[in-house]
Amino acid sequence: MKIEFRLNGKDVSCDVPENYTLLRMIREVFGLTGTKKGCDQGECGACTVLMDKKAVTSCTVLAPVVNGKDIITIEGIEKDGKMHIIQEKMVEAGAVQCGFCTPGMVMSAYALFIQDKHFTREDIKKAIAGNLCRCTGYEFIIDGIEKALESRGK
Ligand code: FES
Ligand code: FES
Repeated sequence: MKIEFRLNGKDVSCDVPENYTLLRMIREVFGLTGTKKGCDQGECGACTVLMDKKAVTSCTVLAPVVNGKDIITIEGIEKDGKMHIIQEKMVEAGAVQCGFCTPGMVMSAYALFIQDKHFTREDIKKAIAGNLCRCTGYEFIIDGIEKALESRGK
């Protein structure tokens, strides 16, 4: 079926089987491999992207649902070839080890970052509750996200 949507700020369209997931579509049709495939069952959060400004696990969203939506992937948050401040602060905090969970973590954090609100450490923990990390113990990740949110001046 033909799907039309916005991907990282650009209008795009493609022909995909109805049973394709958003994850498969962005990786295989659009070649955006920054979004990771972990469990492929909605459990690990490695595939998190934004759909209409909300964090979703792209492995649980079927292609027809994406029609007309606004999707942002990890590739969509850099500017002029520079990392987003969330990524910078996570690197500074030592929040990245193997890095497999990192794009999904960053996108869950980005869903907070774009809101005009203050978020507590508890809010950050809730926002990344669906993002599993096997390496870092989470504290450094939360530190990095907290620093990035503070940089907004809220
Ligand atoms: S790959 Fe989607 S939640 Fe694990
Ligand atoms: S840094 Fe390895 S899974 Fe999170």
